[in-house]
Amino acid sequence: MTRGRDPDHFSRRAQKEGHAARSIYKLEEIDQRWKLLKKGQRVLDLGCSPGSWMQYAVAKVGPTGKVLGIDLKPVTATFPPHAEARVADIYKLDQATIGDAYDVVLSDMAPSTMGDHKTDALRSAALAEQAITVADAFLKPGGAMVVKVLEGGEIQNLVALMRRIFDKVERLRPQATRQRSTEIFLVGLTRKPKA
Ligand SMILES: C[S@@+](CC[C@H](N)C(=O)[O-])C[C@H]1O[C@@H](n2cnc3c(N)ncnc32)[C@H](O)[C@@H]1O
Repeated sequence: MTRGRDPDHFSRRAQKEGHAARSIYKLEEIDQRWKLLKKGQRVLDLGCSPGSWMQYAVAKVGPTGKVLGIDLKPVTATFPPHAEARVADIYKLDQATIGDAYDVVLSDMAPSTMGDHKTDALRSAALAEQAITVADAFLKPGGAMVVKVLEGGEIQNLVALMRRIFDKVERLRPQATRQRSTEIFLVGLTRKPKA
């Protein structure tokens, strides 16, 4: 087993480095590959609790940027003033909750799993589809999106949906993903101008 696939390596590292979750290394790998996050950007993080993706985004955008996290649950991490986490359901977001447009929309959302892969994959796809709808509504032209989904029959539909919005759609299974997980991340690059 390589070090990158050691199931405990990323958890130990996250604890040692003071991150809210090992998931931070998934976003780090995605960002290192596509250079999505930059100083001064506005970032919307859907499904942000316990807060490790926010921790990464906050550091990348710096104090001239803004990070808004949304989750059904409160975050456990603490943040500087240019970041804020709100408890909300992404199916009930409105302009007042979200504010102005964003440069990057992230979604690491996951449903409560049932243990039945087909059901879990369908629920994950429904959350991913809603994240794409939110990105379509709130992402600036030229902006980017990252969205997690469990492998299953819906992925091609989600990719097709994203291709209508983004110039390019990529996919990645990060090193920090647990071996037993079927998650992959879809990355939408260069949001097209709105029709
Ligand atoms: C894997 S965790 C996210 C981890 C986070 N990216 C981090 O790095 O700390 C998935 C999150 O999705 C959230 N979630 C699931 N359904 C949601 C919904 N309808 N609205 C908002 N958040 C949701 C869950 O509450 C959970 O906290």
